[in-house]
Amino acid sequence: MASSISRPLLDLLKPIAKRGLLTWERLESGVVFDLTSEQMLSNPYPTYQSLRERDPVHRMRLVDGWVLTRYDDVQAMLLDHKRFSNWGPGAGDRVYTRDRSMLDLDPPDHTRLRSLVSKAFTPRSVAALEPRIAEIVEELLDSVEGKERFDLIDSFAFPLPVIVIAEMLGVPAQDLDNFKEWSNDIVLSLEPILSREQREQFRRSEQELYEYFESIIARRRQDPQDDLVSALLAAEEDGDRLSHGELLATLLLLLVAGNETTRNLIGNGLLALLRNPEELERLKEQPELLSPAIDELLRYDSPVQLDGRTLVEDVEMGGKRMRAGQQVVGIVGAANRDPEAFANPDRLDIGRDEKSHISFGRGIHYCLGASLAMLEGRIALAGLLERYSSIRLAAEPQQRKQVVLRGVENLFVDVERPSRIAVVEKKDRGQIESDILDS
Ligand code: HEM
Repeated sequence: MASSISRPLLDLLKPIAKRGLLTWERLESGVVFDLTSEQMLSNPYPTYQSLRERDPVHRMRLVDGWVLTRYDDVQAMLLDHKRFSNWGPGAGDRVYTRDRSMLDLDPPDHTRLRSLVSKAFTPRSVAALEPRIAEIVEELLDSVEGKERFDLIDSFAFPLPVIVIAEMLGVPAQDLDNFKEWSNDIVLSLEPILSREQREQFRRSEQELYEYFESIIARRRQDPQDDLVSALLAAEEDGDRLSHGELLATLLLLLVAGNETTRNLIGNGLLALLRNPEELERLKEQPELLSPAIDELLRYDSPVQLDGRTLVEDVEMGGKRMRAGQQVVGIVGAANRDPEAFANPDRLDIGRDEKSHISFGRGIHYCLGASLAMLEGRIALAGLLERYSSIRLAAEPQQRKQVVLRGVENLFVDVERPSRIAVVEKKDRGQIESDILDS
């Protein structure tokens, strides 16, 4: 159809069609959910609030489907995998393999794939990674030693999760720059609306990443190691447990799912603290608040804002009838700011003790890497606060142009190391004399 219409005409018609759909949506419910608006990128929370207050089960027209903004509704959607399926559209776009990762599957395939990798992510396996993560944090901070201003995303929040997962998988961390480009492009596929260029960019990078994994797999086939690629390969060679395409899809998911999200946890989290200096001070004074603080930062500005499902059958919610086959978007970022679930939801309060956020999802697709992400977040934040006596925002950060994964492009900070006297004061008494003698 579209090929018979010239491209310039199509480009001209698009904004008109968009305006028409948004007008229709507003006439129906009094509110619109415009995924393409600047407001959604810079600060989506006022839009979420008006949807939640005026039309919590909202029929959107720009992308044909429904939007949920109440905590209870989003949670109900995530928990009900029988009626809200992860087998949505989009996964068929994959070029190299038609096989899907667990994220795009329902049971029983989802259960089979998840159980193959879940051993590497048990609380015990993750806790064993703590010393190595702490070492990486120190190394990354050492790499900007002496600088008074640096981009915290580029130097710290991005490389940390990439190095951690690359080491778990057993892929060389020196390919870091390639990972950065690949994962930047591949996460575009999560966005509900993509330009033709973005679609091509994502396909190209996915192809390259698959080819890269093929070379790693070939090496591990010859020479198995104690890593996740070798463990998954053993499952593939076992025959019916994991197909080759599923192996590739799983590796891609693991490399990409944890990187952008954890980077945004550190980036959004630190930004929230820098914009709420009293909470930052509170954390410095009460380091025991570190764990609840990470949860609060995840709630306050969630790295994953939207979670999509496809209806298997008709479902009634909030007095609306949603039809089988329609798309439903649960807005995690809106649920996390629902006043029915959290008192003063727009306030950052690192000492909160309420219902838990849904930033890691719920139910059978609950984030497999949640405890790893929490551990990385805790060590990263503690490492920064220990190293610097002062961290300040050096410039207004640029928001990334994505609505599903929310994060900043860069985060330039001005830092100060503690003075020598303060460092000496922190050490135990026995050490102080020798420090003074050394100086
Ligand atoms: C702050 C960081 C992270 C956030 C906010 C996050 C968020 C999420 C969410 C919301 C889901 C559920 C999606 C759905 O229900 O459709 C999910 C699933 C998943 N996450 Fe994470 N994630 C994070 C870090 C990680 C890390 C570090 C890894 C692993 C290295 C990881 C691996 C996965 C996997 C494999 C799934 C799919 C689970 C399934 O389908 O059963 N994530 N994540």
